[in-house]
Amino acid sequence: MKFKTIIEPFRIKTVEPIRQTTDAQRLAAIRAAHFNVFQLKAPDVLIDLLTDSGTGAMSVYQWAGMMKGDESYAGARSFDAFRDAVHDITGFTHVIPTHQGRAAEHILCSALVTDGAIVPNNTHFDTTRANIEHRRGVALNIPIAEGHEPQTLHPFKGNMDLDALERVLQANPGRVPFVMTTVTNNSEGGQPVSLANVRGASAICRRHGVPFFIDACRFAENAWFVKTREPGYEGRTPLEIAREMFSLADGCTMSAKKDGMANIGGFLALNDDALAVRCRNSLILTEGFPTYGGLAGYDLEAIAVGLYEALDEDYLRYRIRSVAYLAEKTAAAGIPTVRPAGGHALYIDAKRMLPHIPWNQYPGVALALALYIEGGIRACEIGSVMFGRQPDGTEKPADLELVRLAFPRRTYTQSHIDYVAEVLVHVGSMAKRLRGVRIVEEPEALRHFTAKFEPLAGFPIA
Ligand code: F0G
Repeated sequence: MKFKTIIEPFRIKTVEPIRQTTDAQRLAAIRAAHFNVFQLKAPDVLIDLLTDSGTGAMSVYQWAGMMKGDESYAGARSFDAFRDAVHDITGFTHVIPTHQGRAAEHILCSALVTDGAIVPNNTHFDTTRANIEHRRGVALNIPIAEGHEPQTLHPFKGNMDLDALERVLQANPGRVPFVMTTVTNNSEGGQPVSLANVRGASAICRRHGVPFFIDACRFAENAWFVKTREPGYEGRTPLEIAREMFSLADGCTMSAKKDGMANIGGFLALNDDALAVRCRNSLILTEGFPTYGGLAGYDLEAIAVGLYEALDEDYLRYRIRSVAYLAEKTAAAGIPTVRPAGGHALYIDAKRMLPHIPWNQYPGVALALALYIEGGIRACEIGSVMFGRQPDGTEKPADLELVRLAFPRRTYTQSHIDYVAEVLVHVGSMAKRLRGVRIVEEPEALRHFTAKFEPLAGFPIA
């Protein structure tokens, strides 16, 4: 290209003001939230990097599509637009709309997972794991070894360990109802999966007669990494790459809140006619009639447009570059992150950044608190608070203590990211002074959402 600056490939037509707060206001807000960022009120947050899920900006074409929404209970025109888009991109025969990704997972697991069934995945996202365990199945993670090593560089760190997959399938005939691969691998740093790896997993599954599904939440970002990192794909479009990936699978689950560019929505898509009948029956029970699932007609329209916008090359170049740009700035300041940067988020390695805080004083929470108190940034711990509590009530350390800065789509500009980098560098400079936290109160499950914390003595609160 003639010029090197990668710009936001949009201009802004509607703005949502964000509010600067004082140190004292943020301190009052976080105290009222019992030092849990999930309990903050959004207007008290300046830059919200809690998740990239459903938090993006829709385009004029999506909003225009919403005006066309057909709200008929059955046979809505909007369903045809939605189904055609999903079919065109994925090639799957049956398209089942759901209100979000976990509903698609629930329907699939209800149909296929029984007591003791094993479902391997490169790394299950929490909701996939929970849906499998709810059916008394075993959610097995088999990422490649590099996936666990924050500092090891690998172009496709999200890959599945194919030898492990072969071993699991050989050792458990009849016990694996399906295999899944998650693109990109959110729980391992938003890292991509190569098409070679998807092809390998697909071939192993076919040889064993086991269906192969893709958790496709970030399929477009994954396609961009394939285009820019996997030999042989430079000349292909993200759409062609996505189609090739889906052609290797028997179906997918999708949260349209990610690469569907919508604020809500999802789907299950698959080829097996008999399985589709069972899934649709369960859809009617839990979500709604098959031509709207859990969605309004206008949501279906927004997704039909958004799925293609997520595959736009200018958009993907800007999106992936935004995360890498923040990663470069933090690396220059010596802040340890999972490397390379992920597609939708930068993951800070809180264990390395705050080595003086032991795992059971939750370094990730301490760091997330400092980011909010110092700069009004909301990020999310992915560490021992999220994963440490065992079903019997005991605790053990998570593999990694990460803080995820997830980027909503088309929402923040380069100056927002410059600001985030400045806050990170500032918090980095006070790292030695940060202290851990203790849990004052916690629920039995999914404690990260509602636990109450208290900073330990000496925590630098202004
Ligand atoms: N699979 C992956 C890989 C995800 O990241 C998510 C959601 C889901 C499934 C479930 O989709 O939320 O629409 O039900 N991830 C969000 C996040 C919540 O913040 O990473 P959903």
